[in-house]
Amino acid sequence: MIDQIIAAREAALAEIDAADSLESVTALDTRLLGKKGPLAQLKTQLAGLATVEEKKAAGQAVNEALQATEAAISARRRLLGDAALAARVQAERLDLTEYAGRPARGHAHLVTQAWERLEDVFIGLGFRIAEGPEVETDWHNFEALNMGEGHPARGEFDTLFLDYAPPGAEPGHTVLRTHTSPVQIRTMLTEEPPIYIVAPGRVYRRDTPDATHMPVFHQIEGLVIDRSITLADLAGTIEAFTKAFFGADFSSRLRPSYFPFTEPSAEFDVQRPDGSWLELGGCGMVHPNVLRAGGIDPEVWSGFAFGFGIDRMAVMRHQIADIRDMYANDLRFIEQF
Ligand code: PHE
Repeated sequence: MIDQIIAAREAALAEIDAADSLESVTALDTRLLGKKGPLAQLKTQLAGLATVEEKKAAGQAVNEALQATEAAISARRRLLGDAALAARVQAERLDLTEYAGRPARGHAHLVTQAWERLEDVFIGLGFRIAEGPEVETDWHNFEALNMGEGHPARGEFDTLFLDYAPPGAEPGHTVLRTHTSPVQIRTMLTEEPPIYIVAPGRVYRRDTPDATHMPVFHQIEGLVIDRSITLADLAGTIEAFTKAFFGADFSSRLRPSYFPFTEPSAEFDVQRPDGSWLELGGCGMVHPNVLRAGGIDPEVWSGFAFGFGIDRMAVMRHQIADIRDMYANDLRFIEQF
C-alpha cells in the first residue's frame, strides 16, 4: 500500500513538473486532486487494510502525498504565471526612448538646439521640465508674481492684451505671457514641494524688432522650492549650470537687482575665459507673497527662481550679429547651423 502511495505521489509530481502551460496545470489540479484522482482512490482502499497501525501509516502517507501535490501545483502555477506575465510585458513593450520629433530632413533650428541643450543640462542637474500656456491670465503673469494692478514694474513688460477671456475671467485680463515666470505659479499650485523644475517656452512683448529685440522670443525659467533653501544654493546652482553649459573655464557672478517676485533679487552674469562678462538673466529668492499666491507656506518652505533668454544663448554661441536673422527663414542662414 505504502509503495503504491509513494509511486502515485512521484507520478503526480513528475506530471506537474512537466506541465508547460497554466491550462495544463489547471487540468492536472482537477485530475490529480479530484474525487477520482489516484490518491483519492488509494484513500478509499484504506478501510480494507488489516491493522490499525497499517491504516494509520497509510492514511498519513496519502495525506502527505495530497499536500505535496497541492503545493507543487500552486508553485508551478506561480512560476508559469510569472513567465506568462513577463512574456506579455515583453510583447507589449513600448520603447519610450524612441524620439519621432526629429525632422527626416534638415536639422533642428538654432533656437531648438539651444532649448534642448539647456533642458539636457538642467535634467543632468536634477531638474524636471514644466510647462505653461502662452496665453496667460493677468493674475498668473502679474498679480500672483507680486505685481498688482498699477505696479510700476509692469511698465517694463510691454504687454500684449487680448480681447479673449477664458470662461469665468474678465475680458481685458488675458495677456500673451511676457515671461515664463507664471509657470512658477502654475507649478506651485499643482505640485507639492519639494519642487525642482525648469520651464522653457515662448514669450511675447510689445517690442519693435531690431538687431537685439524680437516681439516673440524664448526664455527658460527655473524654480526650486524646498526646506531651508538659501541664496548660497541659488549661487551654487547658477555656477554649476554655467560650468555644465558653457564649460569649466567659464564662471558666474550675481549682481544686486530688482524684481517684484524675488527678494533679494540679482542679475547673473557669466565670465568668458578672456575675462569679459556677459549679462545672462535675472534671479532671486522667491518672494513670500509669491509662495503664498502659489499656496505654499513661506514659514516652512523657501526657494529661488531664475529666468533667462534662450535666443540670446544661441546668438552668443554662434556670434550672430542680428537676432532677426534667426526668424527670417532664409535657408542660406539657417543651413549654416
Ligand atoms: N521673469 C524675469 C524677466 O523676464 C526674469 C526672472 C525670473 C527674474 C525669475 C527673477 C526670477 O525679466
